[in-house]
Amino acid sequence: MQFQWYPGHMAKAKKAMQEDIKLIDVIIELVDARIPYSSKNPDIDTLANGKARILIMNKSDLADNSITDKWIKYYEDKGYFVVKIDSKNGKGIKAVNGVIQKACSKKIERDRRRGILNRPVRAMIAGIPNVGKSTFINSFAGKACTKTGNKPGVTKGKQWIRLSKNVELLDTPGILWPKFEDQNAGLKLAFTGAIKDELYSFYELAILLIKFLSENYPSVIGEFYQIEDFGVSESEILELIAIRRGCIKSGAKPDLDKAGRYLIDDFRASRLGKITLEKPNCD
Ligand code: G4P
Repeated sequence: MQFQWYPGHMAKAKKAMQEDIKLIDVIIELVDARIPYSSKNPDIDTLANGKARILIMNKSDLADNSITDKWIKYYEDKGYFVVKIDSKNGKGIKAVNGVIQKACSKKIERDRRRGILNRPVRAMIAGIPNVGKSTFINSFAGKACTKTGNKPGVTKGKQWIRLSKNVELLDTPGILWPKFEDQNAGLKLAFTGAIKDELYSFYELAILLIKFLSENYPSVIGEFYQIEDFGVSESEILELIAIRRGCIKSGAKPDLDKAGRYLIDDFRASRLGKITLEKPNCD
């Protein structure tokens, strides 16, 4: 699903988040492990308002593992409980329940001291569009869960998914807006397909991705497309990809937009390998 954000949408999303946050003990925020800074909502710290915080590095199957580990440390140092996950294949999901208990240990202890035993902690999922919220909820909740809904004392209409004896999850995730005022973040969101492709042509995106890859993963393009890409410019590399992929338009000219689309699709599907687009403290 692609989203267009306007000020009205943002205000509505913000209000919905503020209402939902009142009902929960812990926010489980999803980011894309390939862009853990750019896919993180800029305003969630204010919205979270002192609630326990868990950060899920989702799509970790697509990201560069050693950089993911650096990001985990970076966010742990900022006070988050962090887990890396591949929601599509369910990898890492099992750890989440334990992390929720850890993140809410103060509240659980407070309840216990007041004689309240076994009150489940309530969690909500939040993140920008396409980060994998629905996939995560399906994978996390699995088939074992039961919907509880409309409980006394809970806002009418809210549905809760009972995940275990100890955890209930709000079944509608909070949809957060991306960092679109930051051009650099916007570009990375476009590389991963998180924001509308129309903002950049595939040609533009491909040229910028080739530049990034040449600097950070220098052997990837040459190896994947079987081309000699040494000492040539980004647009010449794209021409070589076009020729290799048979993207030729009338007049026997390489079709660079089509080749650009192939390159971006190959990147998004991780056919080029596990690639992370940003490192901690290097933005
Ligand atoms: P959202 O609710 O946050 O908007 O995201 P959603 O779950 O719809 O996921 C968006 C896309 O990301 C989906 O791909 C989904 O399969 C993919 N995805 C989610 N989590 C992961 C993950 O951990 N790893 C990988 N590799 N992909 C993930 P799609 O192409 O839109 O759909 P589909 O063809 O996969 O069904």
